[in-house]
Amino acid sequence: MKILGIETSCDETAAAVVEDGVRILSNQVASQVEIHARYGGVVPEVASRQHILAIIPIIEQVMAKASWGDLDGIAVTIGPGLAGSLLVGVNVAKAITLARGLPITGVNHLEGHIYANWLIDRSPGVTPVFPLVCLIVSGGHSDLVLMRGHGDYVVLGRTRDDAAGEAFDKAARILGLGYPGGPAIQEAAKNGTASLQLPRAWLKGTNDFSFSGVKTALLRLVEGGMVLSRADAAASFQQAVVDVLVTKAVAVAKEFRVKQILLAGGVASNELLRKWLVENSPIPVLVPEPALCTDNAAMIAACGYYRFQAGKIDGLDLDVVPGLKLA
Ligand code: KG4
Ligand code: ZN
Repeated sequence: MKILGIETSCDETAAAVVEDGVRILSNQVASQVEIHARYGGVVPEVASRQHILAIIPIIEQVMAKASWGDLDGIAVTIGPGLAGSLLVGVNVAKAITLARGLPITGVNHLEGHIYANWLIDRSPGVTPVFPLVCLIVSGGHSDLVLMRGHGDYVVLGRTRDDAAGEAFDKAARILGLGYPGGPAIQEAAKNGTASLQLPRAWLKGTNDFSFSGVKTALLRLVEGGMVLSRADAAASFQQAVVDVLVTKAVAVAKEFRVKQILLAGGVASNELLRKWLVENSPIPVLVPEPALCTDNAAMIAACGYYRFQAGKIDGLDLDVVPGLKLA
């Protein structure tokens, strides 16, 4: 079964064709990062306009490697995300559905991030096995989710303020490292040591996260005129965030006696997070390759495959849901 995936929830226009939810036949992302970088963050109106310019060329690019006649369905992100951006993808997907007579399914972007874990080799021990815990860490979310089967989610914990990616972006701005902050902090940290004592919000007794405190502590140090090496500050901040993410993910996975821990979302491409989670978890850890952690349409097509398998077909009244929840 071949699915065309379409993703336009934020600042990447993406399309992909995936076979049976696991094999990527083609996967393209048109990034708007350089356009938004000069504003220090995503400008929603600019993002929608860029999606309109990029969506048809990107679909033509992925369809150069697949034939329209071979497609079995369309999967498109309906939320969460920016309304104007989501509308571009959903309307193009509906137009294709109508023109080609293909079934359509609307995908939750966060669910898509989780399904990036299915886009890897199907050798034994590598495929996700239920029940599992997934740590979704992106620009808008830091969620710990128990997954008992396809499409079956229990949110065990979430951030109470900033998401992990948002915290990386804000810390990078404080340190003058540019946008997007995650990769900038990671690179700067390579030349430093985690010598600053930054606070960790453990929120004991809960599975929730809070990252605004560590960000504010960094801001106070910078504003207080303390002589800081940017590299040391970046390394200290990265370590403080990763420490909490890894410790809480492992604790919840043990508590619920799951078979695996999955990493997902843009922050899952962070090298320290990947390394520490693997090193500190007694439970097997699955991590998609970095390019499949950040926004892409292959993960949407993979998720769409499992939705079609479960008979979840939408009608042409499919609409965007900017505040869509996972469960
Ligand atoms: O999943 P994603 O591509 O988009 C959303 O759904 O939000 O995540 C984007 C977030 C940004 O905040 C970005 O700074 C962060 O992921 N990110 C990273 C890294 N690469 C991207 N954070 C830490 N380390 C990275 N290497
Ligand atoms: Zn995302």
